[in-house]
Amino acid sequence: MAKAMKTLDELLVHELQDLYDAEHQLTKALPKMAKAATSRQLSNAFEAHLSQTEQHIQRLEQAFEALGKKATRKPCKAMKGLIAEGEETMEEEMDKDVMDAALIGAAQKVEHYEIAGYGTVCTFAEMTGNSRVATILNETLEEEKHADEKLTQIAQKVNTKAM
Ligand SMILES: [Fe+2]
Repeated sequence: MAKAMKTLDELLVHELQDLYDAEHQLTKALPKMAKAATSRQLSNAFEAHLSQTEQHIQRLEQAFEALGKKATRKPCKAMKGLIAEGEETMEEEMDKDVMDAALIGAAQKVEHYEIAGYGTVCTFAEMTGNSRVATILNETLEEEKHADEKLTQIAQKVNTKAM
């Protein structure tokens, strides 16, 4: 077992390691989702989120650096599970519009997980007086929220087709 965490600073680093791993996992999953999507708009949204995700990784590296810590990954079981479910979906036989609707659902679960994660680390960073780190992470938080809204928009069209 890892040594006991005593402070919010330590918990902040711990949570950043989780997100750092989660984002790396996502860079592997998004290209597969883009390929599985039929809707051009959806496929483009996954591609766009891939390049954002690469930036999120860089921002996490900046956050570690600002905290004087090495960027390390702690296996994120939640993201692993979310991606595994997404992969299960992609293996199922579905009508293409139904598949698109299912992919959006899977992607939004990922976004909500990330929104929760970044919301948490932003708060921890602010509370521990690491305002520069908070600013960096807040940029990513806003992008995750935006990605989620974009998926909701695309879903309005896709879901109608899938009915
Ligand atoms: Fe992200």
